[in-house]
Amino acid sequence: MCLVLFLCHFDCKSTIFFVDMQVFYYFCSQINIKMSIFEYIEQHSSAENDVLKQITRSTHLEVINPRMLSGHVQGRVLSMLSQMIRPKRILELGTFTGYSALCLAEGLTEDGKLITIEHNDEMECAIRRNLSLSPLGEKIELVIGDAKEELRRLGDKAQGERQEKFDLVFVDADKKEYCDYLDMVLPLMREGGWILADNTLWDGHIIDPAYDKDKQTVALRAFNDKVAQDERLEKVILPLRDGLTIIRVKQLVN
Ligand SMILES: C[S@@+](CC[C@H](N)C(=O)[O-])C[C@H]1O[C@@H](n2cnc3c(N)ncnc32)[C@H](O)[C@@H]1O
Repeated sequence: MCLVLFLCHFDCKSTIFFVDMQVFYYFCSQINIKMSIFEYIEQHSSAENDVLKQITRSTHLEVINPRMLSGHVQGRVLSMLSQMIRPKRILELGTFTGYSALCLAEGLTEDGKLITIEHNDEMECAIRRNLSLSPLGEKIELVIGDAKEELRRLGDKAQGERQEKFDLVFVDADKKEYCDYLDMVLPLMREGGWILADNTLWDGHIIDPAYDKDKQTVALRAFNDKVAQDERLEKVILPLRDGLTIIRVKQLVN
């Protein structure tokens, strides 16, 4: 039996692992298959337009944690869903560099509008620059602030005036707040409206007991359970990237 030796650095301790060569080849081949299937999916899906390519590039050059950006395939899914729904009003929680906002805006009606909320004010210049690269940017209102505070403000405004309800909401801000976001978003939505929630499989941690004490994982599990148990909501989790939950609000919530 041939063994491969691995040296891992874990919790300040170095550990040596011996792995059977066949097991090692199996894992490598699985990773290769996943990589090539992902490449295949990208090559056989509509391409990103030049603006989205430019935003992807500048995000990788300028921003810490560029992995947060939706990216090519998820971006096309968001665009496709939005074009199916044809929303007049979209709300997004968690703008990052504006990539997903521009994808979702592709489905807006002529007179449609998207409001996107981002709490990191250091991102404001980059977001405004990115949104201005596309004519769709004119339909997007960027709000710099905490998602829950802004949702409260939108709720107060909705009670005071006859404000139009949201047709589509994309939840992608603080994972620990997803349950509260759901409670606050539902009264702002029209009956039959749609919610998309990102990262709901959290890299598979959602079913991994090793993450039982991880705050984000615990909060996302609570969110998934809450959505699953709510009879007013129709739902499905797509195993796309980090998990994308699609929710339809069957019954109007007051
Ligand atoms: C995963 S990124 C969003 C990615 C973006 N939607 C996309 O797909 O390209 C999450 C964003 O939410 C923002 N965020 C985190 N907590 C927030 C909060 N409490 N209120 C508003 N934005 C928040 C972060 O600063 C980050 O830019």
